[in-house]
Amino acid sequence: MGHLGMGHLGMGHLGMGSVKSAATRCWKFLAGLALSGGRSAAAVSDDGPTLTELSAKYPSDKSAAYHGYLGIYEMLFTPLRHRDIRFLEIGVFDGHSMRMWEEYFPAARIFGVDIASKTEHDSRRVKTIVADQGKRQDLTKVLAVTKGNFDVVLDDGGHTMEQQQLSFGTLFPAVKSGGLYIIEDIHSSFPHLWPGFGVERDGANSTYTMIDRFVRTGRVESEYLTVAENDYLSENISHCMYFFRSTKVHSDFFACWKK
Ligand SMILES: C[S@@+](CC[C@H](N)C(=O)[O-])C[C@H]1O[C@@H](n2cnc3c(N)ncnc32)[C@H](O)[C@@H]1O
Repeated sequence: MGHLGMGHLGMGHLGMGSVKSAATRCWKFLAGLALSGGRSAAAVSDDGPTLTELSAKYPSDKSAAYHGYLGIYEMLFTPLRHRDIRFLEIGVFDGHSMRMWEEYFPAARIFGVDIASKTEHDSRRVKTIVADQGKRQDLTKVLAVTKGNFDVVLDDGGHTMEQQQLSFGTLFPAVKSGGLYIIEDIHSSFPHLWPGFGVERDGANSTYTMIDRFVRTGRVESEYLTVAENDYLSENISHCMYFFRSTKVHSDFFACWKK
């Protein structure tokens, strides 16, 4: 796949002479963040613990011991850290990621969606909602309860093709302009590695294929979505990045930004 959307790095306003050195600085910064588990020079100052550091307190499969997503999330979330963002995660489980987001984003409103009741993880800034991400009417309820307007939506729920794509088609319209939508564990698109997530024999219905097709053609064509939903995604995704971490279990996610 290898499509890297660079627009959000904010280099477009620079004069040509400074582009190369700015790009070098930018990559050194990003590489430093990723390699150091997200601790940049800025984070070292008084910015609070990094996500990698918080994962010692709130262990989840996002941490370095398993999928290793947190160093990459640090890179994506640093600019949002102290803003009063609205963050929704599908998949609450034992509440560790809710607590981690709550501490990492001190001004954020955090919503957690799960098929099972998780109200024991609610707090002043965290609200959990019972919903099946594979059911349209449940996702409509999530939008009614939260009022949408999300800076970040992160799907770490059931990981089937239908759940991922139905949620994407239904919740992406509720992402703010410039906001991002993350689908974790795209390895569920590869049944030779992770069977049982509803990928058909030719792989045409997989979430990986959906984004790959978008990269190649500019069109989202999910069999789980209506024509209007596919059109909306096609017209409103600005760019997508695919992140692969070479772990024992094959760890990857997509992040798509809204125009
Ligand atoms: C991998 S765990 C989430 C872990 C959590 N995000 C973390 O990082 O600590 C997956 C969660 O998704 C929930 N889930 C499974 N199928 C779902 C569905 N159809 N709709 C909503 N949530 C679902 C499960 O109940 C489980 O709590």
